[in-house]
Amino acid sequence: MSSNKTVLICIGTRPEAIKMAPVYFEFQKAGYNTKLCVTAQHRDLLDQVLQFFKIVPDFDFDLMTPNQSLNILSSRILNGIDALFLREQIDLVLVHGDTTTSSVIALAAFNRKIKIGHIEAGLRTYNRYSPFPEEMNRQLTGRLADYHFAPSEKAKQNLINEGVLEQNILVTGNTVIDALYTADTILNAGYESEMIAELNKNIDFTKKVILVTGHRRENFGLGFESICNALVELSQDDKIEIVFPVHLNPNVQEVVYKRLSNLNNVHLIAPLDYPTFIWLMKQSEIIISDSGGVQEEAPTFGVPVLVTRTVTERQEGVAAGCSVLVGTDQDLIVSKVKGILLNTKETIVKHNPYGDGNASRKIVGYFENRYDRA
Ligand code: UD1
Ligand code: UDP
Repeated sequence: MSSNKTVLICIGTRPEAIKMAPVYFEFQKAGYNTKLCVTAQHRDLLDQVLQFFKIVPDFDFDLMTPNQSLNILSSRILNGIDALFLREQIDLVLVHGDTTTSSVIALAAFNRKIKIGHIEAGLRTYNRYSPFPEEMNRQLTGRLADYHFAPSEKAKQNLINEGVLEQNILVTGNTVIDALYTADTILNAGYESEMIAELNKNIDFTKKVILVTGHRRENFGLGFESICNALVELSQDDKIEIVFPVHLNPNVQEVVYKRLSNLNNVHLIAPLDYPTFIWLMKQSEIIISDSGGVQEEAPTFGVPVLVTRTVTERQEGVAAGCSVLVGTDQDLIVSKVKGILLNTKETIVKHNPYGDGNASRKIVGYFENRYDRA
C-alpha cells in the first residue's frame, strides 16, 4: 500500500489507546497520512492515555455518557463514523480488539466497502457470554476484517479454523508490549508524577503489595461482591497493602466504595495514569484482575496475575504459569494469594508470551511490502 494513502485508526477506550498508540506512531513514521478517530466511549480514561502519548485526535465523537446501554452507544458510533466516511477519503480503517467501538466501526467500514485491518485478532473463548459482549464483538470484527493481525500462533490458528485465509493473517505479537517498553524506558529514566508521589506517601512499600483492578460486565453484582469479600479477608493481614485503582464504571464504583472504604490497608484510588500504573505493577507482589491488558503486561515483570474470570482468551499466560484463573470465589482468591505470598516473586519466570515489542513495525511492514493491500 503506497504511503500516500490515508489510514484511519479508530479507538474508544483506555486499552485501545494504549495498544494503538505505537501503531499510530509507526504509520506516521512510515509516511502514511495517519488520522486518529476517537469515539470517546471512554472519556477521562482515554484522555489520560492520549495526554501521556501526546496524541491529539483528528476526529472526536465525544460519546461517553454515564452508564449508557450498548445499543445506544452502538447507534451513536454508527452515526458518527458514517458521517466521517462521507466527508473524508479513507483507504484503510484499523480497529483493535473487542470493544463496541471496534465492532461497530468495522461494520460501518464494511458497509462503505473500506478495507479493514483488525489488530489483536483471533483471541477466543468461544463462550458468547464471557467475556460479554467482547467475545462476540471480536468474532464479528474478525468476520468483517480484510487483514488480521494476530498476537500469537494460537490466535492465528483460531482464525484459520474459522476459514480466514492464511495470506490475510500476520502473527505480530501484541502491541501492548510495544507500549509497555516505551513506558518502562520512561520509568527507568526517572519518571516522576504527582500520582507516584502520592502513592509513596500513602502506601507502605516495605509490605506485600497486592494490586487490584476490575471492570468486566459478567462480574457485576455478586461477582464483585465476592471479590470484595476476599479483599476484606486478606486485609486482616497487616503485612499486606491492597491498592485498587477503581474503574470509573458506576457498576464498579458503587460496590467497591461501599464494601471497601475505611479499611486501613485497602487503598481505593482513582484510575492511575498509564506509566504510574506500570510503576505500581512493578512494585506489586500479586495482581488480582479481570483485565485483558494487565494479563499481557504483568509477565514482563514476573508479577503473577490471579484472573477473576472463569475463562480467558489470553491462555498463553495461563499455560506459561504467569496467570491463574480464580473466578470470583472468595475462598479460592484468598488461598491462592496466601499460596503465592509464601513463595518468593523470583520463582516466576520473566518471560512474556505476548510479544517482543515489535508488533507495530510488523503491522506497518505488512502494508509496505504488498501493493495489493488497501
Ligand atoms: C469498555 C469495553 C471493554 C474494555 C473496557 C476497558 C465495551 C463493550 N466494553 O468497558 O471491552 O475492556 O472498556 O476499560 O466496549 N466511564 C466513565 N469515564 C470513563 C470511562 C467509563 O465515567 O472514562 C463510565 C461511564 O458511566 C460509562 C461506563 O463507565 O458509560 C461504561 O463504559 P463502557 O465503555 O460502556 O464500558 P466499560 O465497562 O468501560
Ligand atoms: N491501566 C492504567 N491505569 C489504571 C489501570 C490500568 O493505565 O489505573 C492500564 C493497564 O496498564 C492496561 C490497560 O490500562 O494497559 C488495561 O485496561 P482495562 O483493564 O481497563 O481494559 P482491558 O485490558 O481489560 O480491555
